[in-house]
Amino acid sequence: MNIHYKNITIKTTPSVYEPSEDSFLLAEAALSEIKDSERILEVGCGSGIISALIKTNTKAKIVGIDINPYAAACTKENDIDVIRGDLLNAIKGKFDMIIFNPPYLPTAKEESTEDWINVALDGGYDGRRIIWRFLEDAGNHLAENGRILMLVSSLTGIEEIKSKMRAMNYAIEDLIQERFMFEQLTVIKGTKIHAP
Ligand SMILES: C[S@@+](CC[C@H](N)C(=O)[O-])C[C@H]1O[C@@H](n2cnc3c(N)ncnc32)[C@H](O)[C@@H]1O
Repeated sequence: MNIHYKNITIKTTPSVYEPSEDSFLLAEAALSEIKDSERILEVGCGSGIISALIKTNTKAKIVGIDINPYAAACTKENDIDVIRGDLLNAIKGKFDMIIFNPPYLPTAKEESTEDWINVALDGGYDGRRIIWRFLEDAGNHLAENGRILMLVSSLTGIEEIKSKMRAMNYAIEDLIQERFMFEQLTVIKGTKIHAP
C-alpha cells in the first residue's frame, strides 16, 4: 500500500506498523528541530516514513534501525539506510539526534500476541519496558549537544519518563502535543547534559 504524507510517498507492507498520528507528530517535531547536516538515527523506524520525510526535506544524514525484519526491508525499499537490530545494540558511533516512536501501550502478558505488530505496540505491563531499555544506552550514542526526540503518551506516563530522564542528566522540553480520543501524545526533547 502507498501512503502519501506531505511531499513524500512511501510503501508500507503487512507486518509493519502503519504510520499513524504518533508517527506524524514525531515527524513534525523532528523537521522543526533538525539543523542542516546533522547525523540522525531513527530507532524503531517501521515503514521508514519519518526518516523519508527527513531525508526529503533536510540535508541531514539519516539511518534507521528496527528489530522487525519486515520493517527493515520496508524502510530499505523506501530508500533509507537501515540496519536490522535490537535498539542500539548494533549501532556504532554518535549522533546529533536520536528519534524514537517506541512501542508504548501498557500490555499484560496475556494480551500480547506472537506477531510483529505486537512488537510495534507492546510496551510491557506499564508501557515503559522498551523505553527504559532504550534510555539505558541512548546517551552513549549522543554527540556533544546531542538530543533525543521521543514520542510519549499519557497512557504510558509522561511525567514518569521525564523524571527518569532528568535523573539521567537530560534537560527536558515539550516540543509538541496533541490530544486524541483516548490519550495525549507529546514529543519530548531530552538534551544530554555532559559533565564538564
Ligand atoms: C510505534 S512503531 C513506530 C514505527 C515508525 N517509527 C512510525 O512512527 O511509524 C514502533 C517500532 O519500533 C520497533 N521496535 C520495537 N522494539 C524494538 C527494538 N527492541 N529494537 C528496535 N526496534 C524496535 C517496532 O518493530 C516498530 O517498527
